[in-house]
Amino acid sequence: MKFNALKGVEDILLPDIRIWQHIESEARGIFSVYGYSEIRIPVIEPTGIFTRSIGETTDIVEKEMYTFPDRAGRSITLRPEGTASVVRSYVENHLYNLPAPQKFFYSGPMFRYERPQKGRFRQFYQIGVEAFGIAAPEMDAELLSMLMRLLGKVGLRNLNLEINSIGCEECRPSYKKALLAYFYDKLNDLCPDCRRRYDNNPLRILDCKVERCIDLRKEVPQVTAFICNGCRSHFDNVLAMLQLMNISYTLNPNLVRGLDYYTSTTFEMTSEHLGSQKAVAAGGRYDRLVNEFGGPVTPAIGFAIGMERLAALLKETREFKPLSPDIFIATIGNNAVSKGLLIAGDLRSKGLWVEVGLDGSSLKSQLRKADRLSSHYAFIIGDDELSSGKVKWKNLTDSSQGEVEIDKAAEFISSVR
Ligand code: HAM
Repeated sequence: MKFNALKGVEDILLPDIRIWQHIESEARGIFSVYGYSEIRIPVIEPTGIFTRSIGETTDIVEKEMYTFPDRAGRSITLRPEGTASVVRSYVENHLYNLPAPQKFFYSGPMFRYERPQKGRFRQFYQIGVEAFGIAAPEMDAELLSMLMRLLGKVGLRNLNLEINSIGCEECRPSYKKALLAYFYDKLNDLCPDCRRRYDNNPLRILDCKVERCIDLRKEVPQVTAFICNGCRSHFDNVLAMLQLMNISYTLNPNLVRGLDYYTSTTFEMTSEHLGSQKAVAAGGRYDRLVNEFGGPVTPAIGFAIGMERLAALLKETREFKPLSPDIFIATIGNNAVSKGLLIAGDLRSKGLWVEVGLDGSSLKSQLRKADRLSSHYAFIIGDDELSSGKVKWKNLTDSSQGEVEIDKAAEFISSVR
């Protein structure tokens, strides 16, 4: 019987896993200097957490969630994103009682039943952050500067920061009204989903991917024309702060995002090299969500980076070689194998990566294997070496060779590596 991974679900293998590890380690470093601590959120949650926050009439909730009843008949969902879970945890654990801001990062797999294509998977990984408790526009700017710093640190340049403000509950009603008026005489030409959205959630018509709906949106009123004074001044201050920090951006009044929880600032980092799935990271403010989940009114903001997309971009710009062993110990004879293992244990305890020839093959074939692994050094141990207490070493890059006392081998390698 032969099994394959599910459609839209991938293994991350060498050499790509090196890129992922590089991103994860840089992210941890950057998040720690900005005071974000790690939070591990569950992969499964009660379905209501997502329907309530992301929104009943969004594509994610209507079409893309992996939802199933557990054995007790409860509706469970594989998380399609991380924000809702972090908010659930923030409220459930009363983290709002701690001094603001409370700042978290997470990473792990998310699940959406989307049509797989380049840059779009059914299981994909995000690294995300969420910051609670600060309403000031400087919070938005600091978060964006952290994102830029991280993307720069991992090796990406030339990304475009697209930014918008989608207003709050105060300005939303007048914008909704304008949308309803605009689409009124186009209703019959909209796709069936958008006809439903017209009644339930007209804002969602703006991120419908159906060609004729995109066409009908050409002259749609823009949300920025409807935002209230509070949202306007918040947004202006965010932009001024970005300028001060030398972060360039593009205003994109059509950026409404596919999740209902957003208020005011929304943004995406995009790259033209990614094809149609061009957002490598995205996020925004969600100042009502903590309250909707039963906590006190708490401003919040966050973003999530798509790991597959970030890794794909990095792969184009840099070569990531697999790591290679420090030493390959080639052994001749049974006694040499056991001695080789003992020496390897000692060298490994000193932090060196050591492979030992265990399969009894000829010296030539063991040295060929050492070469294939791109090992930096080979040690050769046979009867002579065992009796003299020395090993032969060979530098596999420049072919120099010599002898070293077994007890001094680790010291020797550390001094020459
Ligand atoms: P999102 O825009 O749905 O936002 O996803 C964030 C990023 O995850 C996208 O920009 C993209 O890079 C990646 N992504 C999304 N779906 C897929 C997919 N099917 N395959 C591959 N990559 C994908 C959120 O998830 C929000 N929770 C972000 C956020 C955090 N907002 C506030 N805090």
